[in-house]
Amino acid sequence: MKAIVLEEFGNAENLRYKEIPKPEIKAYEVLIKVKEIGINPVDVKVRSRQAPLAEALIKYDPLILGWDVSGEVSEIGTSVTKFEVGDEVFGMINFVGHGKAYAEYAAAPEDQLAGKPQSISHVEAAASTLAALTAWQAFDSYGKLRPIDKVLVHAASGGVGHFAVQIAKHIGAHVIGTSSASNRNFVLSLGADEHIDYQNTPFEEVLSDIDFVLEAIGGSNFQKSIRVLKPFGTIVGLPSGHTKEDELKAQEKQLHACYFMSVYSNGTDMQQIASLLAKGVLKPHISHVFGFEEIVKAHLQMDSGRTVGKVVVKL
Ligand SMILES: NC(=O)c1ccc[n+]([C@@H]2O[C@H](COP(=O)([O-])OP(=O)(O)OC[C@H]3O[C@@H](n4cnc5c(N)ncnc54)[C@H](OP(=O)(O)O)[C@@H]3O)[C@@H](O)[C@H]2O)c1
Repeated sequence: MKAIVLEEFGNAENLRYKEIPKPEIKAYEVLIKVKEIGINPVDVKVRSRQAPLAEALIKYDPLILGWDVSGEVSEIGTSVTKFEVGDEVFGMINFVGHGKAYAEYAAAPEDQLAGKPQSISHVEAAASTLAALTAWQAFDSYGKLRPIDKVLVHAASGGVGHFAVQIAKHIGAHVIGTSSASNRNFVLSLGADEHIDYQNTPFEEVLSDIDFVLEAIGGSNFQKSIRVLKPFGTIVGLPSGHTKEDELKAQEKQLHACYFMSVYSNGTDMQQIASLLAKGVLKPHISHVFGFEEIVKAHLQMDSGRTVGKVVVKL
């Protein structure tokens, strides 16, 4: 099968097309004929050795990036009970671990997948995996977002943020989203009640008494976000690389909770996402679809930090 192999950590040109054997599945796994792959900032950060996960993956040869897939089950392991050959499935596979999604076939534990709703395409399904799960787990597993909450969603126009706004509105919260002015209308169209253009308005000067922050930027943005929280508020930090001082500031504030979260593969959560997609509550926004041979372009787009919604690669 064709796969995209990372030969060496570094720039996007280090991603090479290779012919390698199809994966062999374990008893509890299914083999997916991949139709679409979702691209995330972590793909780029591992590729350039900027994510801690890169150190765990260094031992694999071939090293194949990618965690987000949508496709069709082509084989099932002997213990698989939930899926049959021919089923359409999607999910974030083997995260945190060696995803191996940049390939014609990918092996995945059945309990990390959900059936793809018939009403959505494989492109939409592949887009609604890691980023959607992150937003879901931030509000449902790490923090507990309540309908009475005022929530600040940073990078509301990005992959995670655009799902987070929709999920928070579905829960019933009052949502404030940040992005540049160029994405203001997009963020409001997702259902956000208020928008802050971070390039012209320092959010920490105009906001206070926030119940919940989904912090997606990192650096000084984390401590500024702590400042706008209510006592006993909750903050969920997404980017890796938080400091000891970040932890101390969070402790000083008497928060209800501070999480430096890591999204994890989980089929039950994927089914929740599938159900919201099927009902039309959650709608992925896909700004770029690249061909399989255009992986470098897909990485450069993701690397820009300015992606609106999601980037998907089509096989
Ligand atoms: N810990 C975890 O489990 C986990 C899971 C998923 C993602 N992450 C991390 O979370 C971060 C966000 O991920 P993502 O997939 O949403 O990224 P993304 O799709 O690349 O985010 C891009 C968006 O961020 C906006 N943006 C850039 N700088 C901003 C700023 N200073 N303030 C507000 N918005 C800003 C951009 O809008 P404009 O163009 O309008 O500026 C753009 O639409 C990344 O660091 C990622 O690695 C962590």
